[in-house]
Amino acid sequence: MEITEDIQYVGVNDHQIDLFESQYKVPDGMAYNSYVILDEKTAVMDTVDVHFTKEWLSNIASVLKDRKPDYLIVQHMEPDHSASIAAFMEKYPETAIVGNAKTFDMLCNFYGHCYTNTVTVKEKDTLNLGKHILHFVFAPMVHWPEVMMTYDETDKVLFSADAFGKFGANDVEEPWLDEARRYYIGIVGKYGMQVMNLFKKIGGIEIKTICSLHGPVLSGDLTPYLNAYTKWASYTPEEDGVVIAYTSVYGHTREAANLLAEELTARDVKTEVYDLARCDIHQAVAAAYKYSKVVFATTTYNADIFPPMRFYMENLTERNFQNRTVAFIQNGSWAPMAEKVMRGILEKSRNLTYCEHNVTIKSAVTEANKEEIKALAEELSK
Ligand code: FEO
Repeated sequence: MEITEDIQYVGVNDHQIDLFESQYKVPDGMAYNSYVILDEKTAVMDTVDVHFTKEWLSNIASVLKDRKPDYLIVQHMEPDHSASIAAFMEKYPETAIVGNAKTFDMLCNFYGHCYTNTVTVKEKDTLNLGKHILHFVFAPMVHWPEVMMTYDETDKVLFSADAFGKFGANDVEEPWLDEARRYYIGIVGKYGMQVMNLFKKIGGIEIKTICSLHGPVLSGDLTPYLNAYTKWASYTPEEDGVVIAYTSVYGHTREAANLLAEELTARDVKTEVYDLARCDIHQAVAAAYKYSKVVFATTTYNADIFPPMRFYMENLTERNFQNRTVAFIQNGSWAPMAEKVMRGILEKSRNLTYCEHNVTIKSAVTEANKEEIKALAEELSK
């Protein structure tokens, strides 16, 4: 696939994978992107997952034809992009590996290969391929500390490492936004400040095309992608709406969650409901970053809360959950304390607005509870 006259796509699609990074469900697979820049000197941008080395090397060979790669630029050392470095260097031993000091430390640590034919770059260094001048922009913690992006000033292409990527293979047609959000919140959600710092660095640069390490090449009007990233990185809700995240042992808390959803829908409030014991928990995490309000509904369990709810809330707090309105529905037959536990989990989260009309169920939903749920719906709809 031609990205520009001189830049070719040589990545691969992975439909064998079940869990990305051993935790994120990827029913539509993954893409590991890689690119070749053809100029007086040639450069390969990153490698691919170890299961696809052969296919990737074949893609490179078909683009290079009788030429050899002069540079292998390593923007990110996570194994989904670095695991084929050794095979590449075996095939093309004269290639110089371009990375930064942290890249080469990680390369030694991960693979035991300490190459000598290397070019160590610093922030703002450039690499001249002939017509194409590449600028290196360091992007620490987007997603790992060694991450750097590469800007080709000639074709105005930003090779963005993991940023702007998404779950899903590139041969599956689906909108970018939902799977990019689930990917971003899962992988980089904690590091919003670092993403905002990166945006300050690249703010004045003219970008026509974004070549990420996952997902489609982005071109045309890039505003929707940049806007989405700005919202996610600043923990700003994308839209008004309510996420009801619940667990239910015998169905009563589910009943309360569904009643609240009905009341909200009747008030034209956009609402999504997640059964945390059964849904893709990372989808529910991403939803909490999409919408402005979250209702946590769970059971008191072993003087704590039902385990999937704890897992969910800790997934939120470790990703700097903030700037939201929250409410609680607690259930407890003899000593309800779920709300207290949930408030404790959110104690350090910044800028949360707590609703007044929280609901306590003692086993089954009563008529009085139904009135409380209506009052909560009314408050959330304001
Ligand atoms: Fe796609 Fe952080 O690696």
